[in-house]
Amino acid sequence: MNRNGTRRKFLDFFGNIALAAGFGPQPARRSLLSFSPYSVKRFVDPLAIPPVARSLAPAGSGRVKEARYRITIRELYMKVHRDMKPTRFWGYDGLVPGPTIEAESGEPIAIEWVNALPGRHFLPIDYTLHGAGENGPEARTVVHLHGGRTPPESDGYPERWFPPGQSARCRYPNGQEAAMLFYHDHAMGITRLNCLAGLVGLFLVRDSYERSLNLPSGAQEIPIVLFDRSFDLEHQLAYPVSSDPAAPWVADFLGDALLVNGKLFPFLEVEPCLYRFRVLNFSNGAVYRLSLSEDKYPITPGSESFAQIGTDQGLLPSAVNLRTLMLAPGERADLIIDFSQRAGQELFLKTGVIAFLQFRVKAATAVPRITLPERLRRVERLAETSIAQTRILSLTAKVDTRGVQRQMLLNDARWHMPITEKPKRGTTEIWAFVNTMEEAHPMHLHMVRFQILDRRPFDVDRFRNTRELILTGPPTPPAPNEEGWKDTVRADPMVVTRIVVRFEGFIGRYVWHCHILEHEDNEMMRPYEIVE
Ligand code: C2O
Ligand code: CU
Ligand code: CU
Repeated sequence: MNRNGTRRKFLDFFGNIALAAGFGPQPARRSLLSFSPYSVKRFVDPLAIPPVARSLAPAGSGRVKEARYRITIRELYMKVHRDMKPTRFWGYDGLVPGPTIEAESGEPIAIEWVNALPGRHFLPIDYTLHGAGENGPEARTVVHLHGGRTPPESDGYPERWFPPGQSARCRYPNGQEAAMLFYHDHAMGITRLNCLAGLVGLFLVRDSYERSLNLPSGAQEIPIVLFDRSFDLEHQLAYPVSSDPAAPWVADFLGDALLVNGKLFPFLEVEPCLYRFRVLNFSNGAVYRLSLSEDKYPITPGSESFAQIGTDQGLLPSAVNLRTLMLAPGERADLIIDFSQRAGQELFLKTGVIAFLQFRVKAATAVPRITLPERLRRVERLAETSIAQTRILSLTAKVDTRGVQRQMLLNDARWHMPITEKPKRGTTEIWAFVNTMEEAHPMHLHMVRFQILDRRPFDVDRFRNTRELILTGPPTPPAPNEEGWKDTVRADPMVVTRIVVRFEGFIGRYVWHCHILEHEDNEMMRPYEIVE
């Protein structure tokens, strides 16, 4: 993982790190009176599986060309654990995660998103952030389909939020290959708060090619949405604030408790056969290091093997065997776990050394044995030879003129500055993310999919001082489990990460940003425009 010898710091779950890199006012010290997830009995709640959304009118009924849905965004109370009090959340259709939308490649659907939130936010808004809007309604929202090839007017542009009492009609053409996408809030200046409150759901694009592979499906295909949260003693969501009450923003959020589909330490009964797990890291800022273990105690990470068959934008060329998987915010992994030799046993999914999900393998199964195909999908490599443009894009930390609040900037620009990235539709570009910081940033572009070219060390001090890019070591190719289509890439610390992107799809205004939501809300997001 550390092939080029660069020192790497990640925001690891359960704090083996570096809140460190010195950004922003230090978070207020966590109160000793906060809730400890270790005070509850583990593995007593079954894993909740989000229900599949039901359409108001399926495609083809009468004169309807596309399936129509209405999803209402509202406040709810939900028990994350048997022995905890109900916790307040905001959720799509009153669920956290929201209902899973199942779509077929090439078949458009329409969703009316209805904002039925109460007037006030229950998390601390920082009005000094750009677009956080002191005069606007607090409970504003806009929905983005992450990974979707969606026309700009339906893509959830951060400034197109709508207040309680209003709704937005969006159209998703689904002109893309099978993949697990997800929808979430993207409102300017408060995305981190709305997402932390629970505004997320899965969106599965299916296609006939993937079906022909006969992968585990039905009860053997399990969605896993991961996010960490902290709770107060009343079991309500707690979010840290800085010591400056006028500017409560903190640079990074790490929760005390890792929830799986909204549950704390759940279990899942499985049959002794092959399972497919569709995993999303929806943390605000934590990178998870997943492993599989026979051992529930927090001593070592797991060492059992599992396979990854897909990434953000669908299947890999072939399955990759893993013992640990790093997943940054916004990234997805399509995993296969083989329980067939495990009848009657227990297994645990861990991040670091913490077991957070228990598998209870039944004694016998009637599920027919499946063998994974050798080749999963042909992934055409984008050639480096027909590049219209290479963009060098810096990721830097910035102290503002008061010397108080620090921000993180993309290419030294703020959100409201003129658009500088205007790729032409149909062309292919290389984007080189030059990360000058000691922290990894998961970089995401809307509307497109891309491939990772390489990661390479550079002279960081020189770049910081002169913006001159001098590479200091050989390139590291993407890991085998990154060699598919991606829409979010880890820009590792003090490294240049290059991606190759073809701007296929729609013209219009989109955004690119860091998917650490605290960063995204504080200037680490920029508009870009695909032009004719
Ligand atoms: Cu999932 Cu613009 O993000
Ligand atoms: Cu997105
Ligand atoms: Cu970031």
